[in-house]
Amino acid sequence: MDIVHSVSQLRRRLRKEPNNVFVPTMGNLHEGHIQLMRIAKPRAACTVVSIFVNRLQFGPREDFDRYPRTLERDSELLRGAGVDVVFAPDEAEIYPEAQTFAVEPSGLQHILEGAHRPGHFRGVATVVLKLFNLVMPHSAIFGKKDYQQYLVLRDMVRQFALPIEIIPAETVRAPDGLALSSRNAYLSAKERREAPRLYRLLRQAYTGIMGGARDFQRIELHCMSQLADHGWHPDYVTVRRQADLQRPDADERELVVLAAARLGRTRLIDNVEMFLR
Ligand code: PAF
Repeated sequence: MDIVHSVSQLRRRLRKEPNNVFVPTMGNLHEGHIQLMRIAKPRAACTVVSIFVNRLQFGPREDFDRYPRTLERDSELLRGAGVDVVFAPDEAEIYPEAQTFAVEPSGLQHILEGAHRPGHFRGVATVVLKLFNLVMPHSAIFGKKDYQQYLVLRDMVRQFALPIEIIPAETVRAPDGLALSSRNAYLSAKERREAPRLYRLLRQAYTGIMGGARDFQRIELHCMSQLADHGWHPDYVTVRRQADLQRPDADERELVVLAAARLGRTRLIDNVEMFLR
């Protein structure tokens, strides 16, 4: 496995590697990321992973500074997962000058996560487009825990006709249901015991809707009040259509229930897809 830090090293290393699959990350890797590598590996001769904490996608009061940087440990995990190339640039390498051009995502950027994190998806789309231009993969893997991010990037690739297949990966969970996330490391022991409630509530919503419940507002309010009763600060729990995260019509078959809520200082997100018959 080669670890490269500069754009020129990366380009040199990949010059003879047209068949590559890409997994962009911000590091602090966990089993959820390793699952992305497992999906990536059989798809190409060369698996490329980037590790870059992208300032552009963090709001001024978010956790950019305290986001864990664990390159040594990450490299060991990636070596074990059979990754071929790790691209770990510093900020000056990715943004040698102020990034005055940006990718402006669709209306998706103004709802849900976008409404709570203004500018977040512009930052994500801008860095991912840049990384795509550097790595030039034929496919890239994104986890569905960040459901809205996956949709933004899928739509970006389609609308700009980028020759890249976006492959979604299922969320990996701890045995108690908590979706794996780098931010789980911020949870205290007590909060960690409470955290699986988020997924439990989404599963209840899933069971209700699959069983015929159609009063989505009631379901959403129930989940929000359960969270609030147990010390959470919910941003949203909402049932949407999968295609564009708009509110579903009564006959919509492909739904997703998405949630974001703060537990102490940690903001957790999760979602569950539903395919109605
Ligand atoms: O999902 C992430 O880790 C980041 O948003 C990504 C896609 C690596 C862009 O910085």
